[in-house]
Amino acid sequence: MKIPCKIVAEVLALLKELVKPGVTTQDLDSIASCEVKKHKAKAAFKGYHNYPNALCCSPNNQVVHGIPTSIPLKNGDILSLDFGVFYDDFYGDAAITVPVGDVSDLAATLIKVTEQSLYEGVRNAVPGGRLFDVSYAIQSFVESKGFSVVRDFVGHGIGRCLHEDPQVPNFGVPGKGILLKPGMVLAIEPMINQLGHDVRVLKDDWTVVTCDGGLSAHFEHTVAITDSGPVILTCL
Ligand code: MF3
Ligand code: CO
Repeated sequence: MKIPCKIVAEVLALLKELVKPGVTTQDLDSIASCEVKKHKAKAAFKGYHNYPNALCCSPNNQVVHGIPTSIPLKNGDILSLDFGVFYDDFYGDAAITVPVGDVSDLAATLIKVTEQSLYEGVRNAVPGGRLFDVSYAIQSFVESKGFSVVRDFVGHGIGRCLHEDPQVPNFGVPGKGILLKPGMVLAIEPMINQLGHDVRVLKDDWTVVTCDGGLSAHFEHTVAITDSGPVILTCL
């Protein structure tokens, strides 16, 4: 799984540098498609339950699963990019949220807290621990900063399929959930809202938005649980 995960990390790092005012999310999607071909890999999301693109692009009040559009990004937007790759029978999956130009202090804080919450979760993905220790670490960190955790979408196991058991919620009771063991691989992916946690799906049947119009951020890593602790596979 190191190979698809490394490709995911490289493509997201490239896209991050390209995000600026005037760029469209369709431009970013084209670049992601092109990069994945160069690596002789496949974009994991395209065609998955008929999802139309390689990349999910979710600006501002969009939480996840935003479809790339021809609308140029504007200074002050925030943009979540979620990308998955299939290579040699295995999947990798990761997401980042990036500022477009100069963003408000609030937006910058939401991004920082969401990213940090992912690492709080990862730190708890250890053999002998319980799944909801990961969930609780994310939730308690996020709520201590005054933001809210999306309930309706969760992380997941990953391997030969993009989505495997177990579901990995970003909220839960510590000490509960399945026992974590070496060899398990989890996609841990906090989706964090500025205001309330409620979300809804738009009529395109994909785009998830906040009900109250508040901002939302998303970070994700594919993480292997090993004897020596968690290993983030989706890093450079
Ligand atoms: N990255 C998403 C996840 O973590 C998957 C996107 S759904 C798709 O579950 F249909 F767009 F692939
Ligand atoms: Co995922």
